[in-house]
Amino acid sequence: MAKFKVTEVFEGISMPGYLHTQESLRAATNFQFQDTDVLLVTFPKSGTTWMQQILSLIFNKEDFQNIQSIPTWARVPWIEQIYLSNYLPQMEASKPRLFTTHLTANLLINNLKTSKTRVVYVARNPKDVLVSYYHFHKLAKFLPEIGSFDDFFDQFLEGKVNFGSWFNHIKDWLGVQQDLNFFLITYEDLSQDPRGAIQRLSNFLGQQLESKELENILHYCSFSFMSQNEQLNYSLVPPEAFDHSVEKFMRKGVTGNWKEHFSPEQNARFNNVYQAEMGDLAVKLPWSLD
Ligand code: A3P
Repeated sequence: MAKFKVTEVFEGISMPGYLHTQESLRAATNFQFQDTDVLLVTFPKSGTTWMQQILSLIFNKEDFQNIQSIPTWARVPWIEQIYLSNYLPQMEASKPRLFTTHLTANLLINNLKTSKTRVVYVARNPKDVLVSYYHFHKLAKFLPEIGSFDDFFDQFLEGKVNFGSWFNHIKDWLGVQQDLNFFLITYEDLSQDPRGAIQRLSNFLGQQLESKELENILHYCSFSFMSQNEQLNYSLVPPEAFDHSVEKFMRKGVTGNWKEHFSPEQNARFNNVYQAEMGDLAVKLPWSLD
């Protein structure tokens, strides 16, 4: 029997009760950002861990080796999770503070827009997000039962998964980007041209990278390095939370894996919903839906 509520609902959005309470969520909406903060924003399974690693490498250029012994969730903690208070005191000493959130913009915008906090939004082809999220539900015991892939497919398209609708999440954040110090980067950019994507990101962050530093970052954020490092690959998460016998957190790390999961009928249905939801969006997103 779970000792926590499986699902915590806040402002109409479901989230894992293992990591969130009403208090922790309310605290996130009142969070006092500082001008030097960096906030990583993602819908789950979009490359959060990858970008947590990249951000902390960019800001710890002299300390590449040492930071590998600290898990990414402690280096770039989620502002909405119950564990934030464990990390905040030691973060005060190091500027900038690096944070993560999966929350939608409407919950944070009031506090964010009065600061110069740099917001880094990582987006990923939602078809690959769906597949990654499906496998993550098999790994994470604290998530609700989802049934078959076909069931999960429907739930994702209807926005009835934890953190709600992928479409609402991205549209909400892109809709307020003019009010923020905002940088959009995609999982696909990082996969296709990691060097160029990290250079553009570090320019946005005001961080110059020597070529040796860039080479080091590329090495330490590669899938081959991260999937083998137990502080980065989530293999140390206790068995009551993750069933390591059925899935790995660092699963494939590729683009286009949805093609091995979607039926032609599901693909057509997904494309229709995507077109209806995203058709008017001015920003060109770099993934292929074919
Ligand atoms: P897959 O399940 O498709 O393999 P998040 O951190 O937001 O939960 O996202 C997890 C996804 O990012 C997983 O995708 C994981 O394998 C992938 N990922 C993590 N680190 C990566 C890296 N260094 N390179 C490429 N993909 C990475």
